[in-house]
Amino acid sequence: MPNFYATTPIYYVNDKPHIGHAYTTVLTDVLTRYHKLFGFDAFFMTGVDEHGQKVQKAAAAKGVSPQEHVDEYNVHFKELWEKLNIDYGYFIRTTDESHKKFVQNSLQYLFDKGEIYLKEYEGWYSVGEERYFEENELVDGKDPISGRPVEWRSEKNYFFKMSKYQQRLIEHINNNPKWILPEFRKNEVLGFLKSPLNDLCISRPKSRLSWGIELPFDKEFVTYVWFDALENYYSGVFGKTHPDGTPYWPADFHIIGKDILTTHCVYWPTMLMGMDWELPKHVLAHGWWMIDGSKMSKTSGTGINPMDYIEQYGVDVFRYYLIRELTVGQDATFSHDSFVRRVNSELANDLGNGLNRIHKLVLTNFGGKIPRPFEYGEQEKELESYSVKATEFAKANIGEVKLSFIAEEILNSVKALNRYLEQTAPWKLAKSAEQKDKEKLATVLYIGAEVLKNALTLLAPIMPQKSEQGLAMLKDGAKGEALFPRIEE
Ligand code: MSP
Repeated sequence: MPNFYATTPIYYVNDKPHIGHAYTTVLTDVLTRYHKLFGFDAFFMTGVDEHGQKVQKAAAAKGVSPQEHVDEYNVHFKELWEKLNIDYGYFIRTTDESHKKFVQNSLQYLFDKGEIYLKEYEGWYSVGEERYFEENELVDGKDPISGRPVEWRSEKNYFFKMSKYQQRLIEHINNNPKWILPEFRKNEVLGFLKSPLNDLCISRPKSRLSWGIELPFDKEFVTYVWFDALENYYSGVFGKTHPDGTPYWPADFHIIGKDILTTHCVYWPTMLMGMDWELPKHVLAHGWWMIDGSKMSKTSGTGINPMDYIEQYGVDVFRYYLIRELTVGQDATFSHDSFVRRVNSELANDLGNGLNRIHKLVLTNFGGKIPRPFEYGEQEKELESYSVKATEFAKANIGEVKLSFIAEEILNSVKALNRYLEQTAPWKLAKSAEQKDKEKLATVLYIGAEVLKNALTLLAPIMPQKSEQGLAMLKDGAKGEALFPRIEE
């Protein structure tokens, strides 16, 4: 059995989860479920990033200790994952003792190996991003990522010799063209690597940040939150194996948003090189959900809170929209109109209609049991080819996480079915007393059910519950409410 291990970023617990967190996690869940469907032993890990300044600040603002704050906030994430039917294999918290020990061991290893040194440092520090920027990285004198002001700071700190791995990293990227997906993100990283790489500051003096993992070789410092956080991908599965004994590490996929490309494609691989560990096989950076031209977090200016859609329209429909609307890699806009359009045209009209038609005709004409078919003609063979194509397409494209296109291809097979039903008009055949019409009806309903079963099975990773209900309707003629009601407004 082939193996698969994927990760989501671990989310900051400075606030409650929002659409961005939900999207990355749904995407990783769907990707992992596809691998299970295609016969992999598939596992994915998610979790929370609990150290660092953002969390320390959020706790202080509430007047509680950081530990109390994270103990409360990590639960919001777990609750949302349950609501979204996320089937993660393990949930990591960076305050877990095993994780802290792991990070300290790796720091000690690098220190003993001479990969870490102490230096007086001066630079532009961004509190928002919790990192220093070079003068030439600033945009209009501000943090190039968040656009927030930076402050000049000087302090002694420990540095990891990141620059020494620059050439090796460039070679790795060039030799493994699918290491960073999609391709244009790879080019972005290569572009970044054209300038000389600095060494990475991996410590913070406790005098200004106490909420972190203490450096094992200097009690005056904690480690930089990104050094701590990135290691979760390995610490969470350290010593664990797939049933066949293969270790989980290296991961097959790190799924991330484009905002954290550099940390994952420059810091993390060079850290791994320093530690003599293997690199993950792929890093996939998806785009953002936008609203009115900016990155979405909570309620948008227009009053849409995407999370309300889960309650109102159901979790599977919400998952479908996220997967179908955003082409992985690109940005997308969450809008009520596009939500209603997708649900009504693809789910209610195409899939829902096809399913209702076949289900009803099988129920009324064959007591809910799918009839045996007679001979297939050209039309049936053509229809069947759409199902085959959808399956093959899904298998061929899952490796590049082309989920929106996979969903589209599956829906194409359902659209082909509806066209076929219009042409063959089984509702008319059902009224005829002629033997050849009866035979044709049986064939139409049989192949219709086959196409739907295939589509529902392939859609199961995206819509687990609806798929199961639809399959049950076809299997034993279970009476089903319309599975995908139209949104009427
Ligand atoms: N804690 C770090 C990650 C450490 S991983 C070792 C972090 N956390 S975060 O809470 O800010 O979450 C960032 C991730 O949330 C992004 O990379 C992205 O996956 C997701 N998103 C946040 N807002 C988003 C959108 N508007 N749209 C899509 N996803 C975005 O960074």
